[in-house]
Amino acid sequence: MTNPKTHPVEGWAEVDFNSEPFLTDFKKVYEGMHASGCPYAHSTSGDHYAVASHSEIMSILKGYDVWKSKYGPALSYLETPGVLVSVDPPEHTFEVRIVADCFSKEIFESLIPDMEAFMQARLDEVFEQGEMDLHDAISVTLPLFVIHKLLGFPLEDEDGTSRIPWIREGIITMVGTMLDPEGDRADALAQLGPDHTGVQAAMRTQQMYAEHLAECKAKLASGEWQNDTNIVCRFLTTPGPDGTMLTEDKIMGFMNFLETAGSATTTIMLSNIIYRLLTEPGAYERVCADPDLIPIAIEETLRLDSPVQGLFRTNDTEVEIGGCPLDVDTKVMLLWAGANLDPEVYEDPMTFNLDRDLAKVRRHLSFGYGTHFCRGAPLARLEGEIFLKAILPRLKNLRLNGEVQMEKRIPVLQGIRSLPVAWDTD
Ligand code: HEM
Repeated sequence: MTNPKTHPVEGWAEVDFNSEPFLTDFKKVYEGMHASGCPYAHSTSGDHYAVASHSEIMSILKGYDVWKSKYGPALSYLETPGVLVSVDPPEHTFEVRIVADCFSKEIFESLIPDMEAFMQARLDEVFEQGEMDLHDAISVTLPLFVIHKLLGFPLEDEDGTSRIPWIREGIITMVGTMLDPEGDRADALAQLGPDHTGVQAAMRTQQMYAEHLAECKAKLASGEWQNDTNIVCRFLTTPGPDGTMLTEDKIMGFMNFLETAGSATTTIMLSNIIYRLLTEPGAYERVCADPDLIPIAIEETLRLDSPVQGLFRTNDTEVEIGGCPLDVDTKVMLLWAGANLDPEVYEDPMTFNLDRDLAKVRRHLSFGYGTHFCRGAPLARLEGEIFLKAILPRLKNLRLNGEVQMEKRIPVLQGIRSLPVAWDTD
């Protein structure tokens, strides 16, 4: 690495965020950082620092003048600005005003009947088998179904073949490079080569977005579709505060970002919830008997098993964290997953506890905080609720049915790759 901006700091943890030991037992690392009284780390496999303190992350996120998103949420330095998470005000404010209508409560709630019907149809399909890989069968499919409802185009090719396998492959490959130790995602993808299945899948996904954009433009022009037919039609027809429109590049960027940010994360959340309920003694039975516990089950899982480990900010001016002076434009990873285990905020933080106060649990940082707070958080919560309300009464005596595999191909996310479950069919 030429001219690194970071170096080991006395008293700080040295962590390889891409390593097998970290990905296997990252909570131990966060726990150790908190226990040491020094919740900072220097990364040994990429040029960045990391922070796990809840209050320090909050103060960084409130320091808008210093801490910027312009280089993007990944370790690499983005050269062309992306959308929302990769821009700062005033550009961020402009984009938010355009997209605000698309992320309204009304729009999210209008998806409820479709989501409920989707869940019932999935459960009808698998019920008599008495077993399934819940991750593949539902956690992966429900969030993609929802995003495609919003975007306004199907999850199947014209001949009925599902697009999910290659959409997922593309997402895993792209998000998988976010923590590339060399800090150059373009280079990391180039090294995989154009024939790599993930790279091919990502290219096919871009093609799918381009075709949808062209269809939206054509159908808006012919009057067949209206401004509110889908999110992309809204993007094409909603002017920003100064009357200018989003460019087509930005709209492509939004499709890409929404598909990834809205599905990869929610998929992890859904599998994590079931995993928690089935592995914490008595938890599944309690929530079955008292569905009022569903919101706390969702939030406590989000807190303890934050789908996103952390995302980056860079400093616009010289500043210190934890007493260490930083060069301008140093990458600092805000560890949402670590902050959620901060004993300053949560008593007995490593324990899953359905009796915690809901409002306090919701102080978790799994959806970020401040300017870039997740716009899809209400939708993700709704998906979690509909998912559980469909599964709990239907799948009696739900239990794990084989080895649960963890997903390690995407170091910036944590989660499950395979969740075999079984239930009683009589
Ligand atoms: C459990 C599921 C989800 C998790 C854990 C999650 C997590 C996050 C996090 C941590 C951020 C903040 C990024 C930062 O500060 O750099 C964020 C931003 C965002 N998320 Fe989510 N997200 C989830 C679901 C969704 C869904 C379902 C959608 C949309 C359909 C969505 C859309 C967005 C958008 C648009 C932003 C950018 C906000 C901005 O920069 O203004 N997310 N998400």
